[in-house]
Amino acid sequence: MASLPFWGRLGGGYIMNLFDVYPLFDIAIDHGKGCHVWDDKGQEYLDLYGGHAVISIGHCHPHYVEAMTKQLNKLGFYSNSVQNPLQKELAARLGKASGYEDYQLFLINSGAEANENALKLSSFYNGRTRVLSLEKAFHGRTSLAVEATNNPKIIAPINANGHVTYLPINDIQPWKTELEKGDVCAVIIECIQGVGGIRMVTQEFMQQLRTLCDQHNTVLICDEIQCGYGRSGKFFAHQHLDVKPDMITVAKGICNGFPMGGVLISPKFTPVYGQLGTTFGGNHLGCAGAIAVLDVMEEEHLVENAAQVGTYLINTLKAEQAAGNLPHVVDVRGEGLMIGIELDIPYKGPRLRLIKEEHCFTGCSGTNVIRLLPPLCLSMEEAKQFIEKFKKVLK
Ligand SMILES: Cc1ncc(COP(=O)(O)O)c(C=O)c1O
Repeated sequence: MASLPFWGRLGGGYIMNLFDVYPLFDIAIDHGKGCHVWDDKGQEYLDLYGGHAVISIGHCHPHYVEAMTKQLNKLGFYSNSVQNPLQKELAARLGKASGYEDYQLFLINSGAEANENALKLSSFYNGRTRVLSLEKAFHGRTSLAVEATNNPKIIAPINANGHVTYLPINDIQPWKTELEKGDVCAVIIECIQGVGGIRMVTQEFMQQLRTLCDQHNTVLICDEIQCGYGRSGKFFAHQHLDVKPDMITVAKGICNGFPMGGVLISPKFTPVYGQLGTTFGGNHLGCAGAIAVLDVMEEEHLVENAAQVGTYLINTLKAEQAAGNLPHVVDVRGEGLMIGIELDIPYKGPRLRLIKEEHCFTGCSGTNVIRLLPPLCLSMEEAKQFIEKFKKVLK
């Protein structure tokens, strides 16, 4: 159907149009299984995008579907004014899986909300208002999260409140200069930048940042919304760098597509009744789904799988590049199943050919980077299939 204007008339009445902010592929995904999705015409696609790093345990995993269905038949939602044992179970399980058993969990519904609350709690903690963020950072689209996002196109005048200074990656001196002023509330950082093009923070830089934050009573927040929850081949990407942040924000993979976010909060923060809150966050249905996600991650060793298949993909892509089989590829980088393939041409052509001709979804960053964010259950066989498809479209 041709798209109707906003005030389009249909049969004498008005029809509401969607607010058109997304450039869309002309494909309607109808169903999925594992690392595959099918459109409404029955065409199958290999999914190395995971609906933007959201599908962690694979599409429609039977254990997840069963847990969510059971919970929905029992109780979908009740408010945060009563005990919810599912929240406590999720917190205990997440603490154990991630190695952060001494941290506390606050649950919300999205990544932006997770960062918003982490920044807010930092400001309650030290009374300050300045934030340091990385150049090319992406932290979400709500007021503080978007201000900490280094993209003027999505910061509305009402969000431009001068709280945030953006600084270069892996160059500690400017961070030191700012932190030594003693007025910085929080540093927020993705240890592997997603939207920024799979740029990785070094161990040396991160450890220096940790020391400086400690010296100046600044809160260190790791945004693990895209790079966390097993994607990098460790539970959290910062665990490759041997540092412990004060807060860790999560979303995307936590509930395999059901909207949920969380903040893991160090014991140095004391909760205050009413200071943070949410209507929907931590609802029964979401908690049941998130517990099922952790069940599957453990049962199927998905963090280990992300490390193994991711290393294979990165090494093979590099080898194929060196052998001259991947023209236009200038760099392959990443950890686990968070991989950036930088091209010397815009990604648009190859990415579209991957979808249209090879029936394979991938993500992208900037203008020249193809970004792979598959479900963490991607098999070696599926990784090999991707490489063959990619070689074909670059020929
Ligand atoms: C690193 C990072 N932080 C925050 C967000 C925002 O998450 P949400 O879209 O769930 O608000 C995203 C989303 O892509 C992200 O990649």
